[in-house]
Amino acid sequence: MTLRLAVLCSGRGSNLQAVLDAIAHGSLDAVVTGVFSDRPGSEALQRVPESLRWSARPSDFSDRDAFEDAMAAAITATRPDWVLCAGYMRILGDRFIGTFNGRMLNIHPSLLPRHRGLDTHRRALEARDTEHGASVHRVIPELDAGEVIAQVVVPVRAGDTPPSLGARVLAREHVLLVEVLRWIATGRLAERNGILLLDGHPGFTPVQLESPAT
Ligand code: GRF
Repeated sequence: MTLRLAVLCSGRGSNLQAVLDAIAHGSLDAVVTGVFSDRPGSEALQRVPESLRWSARPSDFSDRDAFEDAMAAAITATRPDWVLCAGYMRILGDRFIGTFNGRMLNIHPSLLPRHRGLDTHRRALEARDTEHGASVHRVIPELDAGEVIAQVVVPVRAGDTPPSLGARVLAREHVLLVEVLRWIATGRLAERNGILLLDGHPGFTPVQLESPAT
C-alpha cells in the first residue's frame, strides 16, 4: 500500500525534493500528504502544490504546545502513516511526538551519536574527525537520541570547510533518506507496539549505506 508521508521542514527542502523526485520517478511508492512548516517563508513549501502546504509562526501562539497542537491536528487530518522531519529546525515537545506513536523519523547531518544538535559540520572539523556523514533515526523526546536506522559515511578531506563538507554530506543524505523510506514502503522497516523492526528484528544494528568510491 502506498506509504503516506507528512513532512516537516523549516528551510530549503532539498531532502523533501529528493523524496518528491523518487516518487515522481516511480522508485518510491509513497505520497506526501502535506508539508508543514514553522516558517511560512520557507523554500520547502514552494516545492509542493498550495493545497499541500501548512505553515504558521510559533510566535503567533501562546506557547510551543499551542503551536504544536495546531500543527499536530493539521498533520493528523492528512492521515499520514509516518511523519518525517527533514530540516525541521525546532525542538519538538513530548506531547507532539507522542501523537505519532513512534512513527516519526528525522534526518540528521552527522554520524550519531556524534554531534547531536546544530552546527555539525563545523564541529566535525573542529574535532578533526576523519569521517563524517548523516543518520536517519527515530524521533524521541530527547534531541537526536532515538534509534539510528541507517547512516551514510563520507570522508573529511584536507582543506574542508563547513560548507564543502556539508555539501558532500547533503548529496548522500538524499540517497539515505529515500532508501530508508523505501524500506518502510516495502515493509522491510516497520513499527509494532512502539518497537522498530528491520526485517522483522528489533534491536538491529544501524545499516551503513555504501558510498560510491571517492
Ligand atoms: C539537512 O542537512 C538535514 O540533515 C538537517 O537539516 C538540513 C536540511 O536541508 N536536519 P534541506 O532543507 O533538506 O535542504
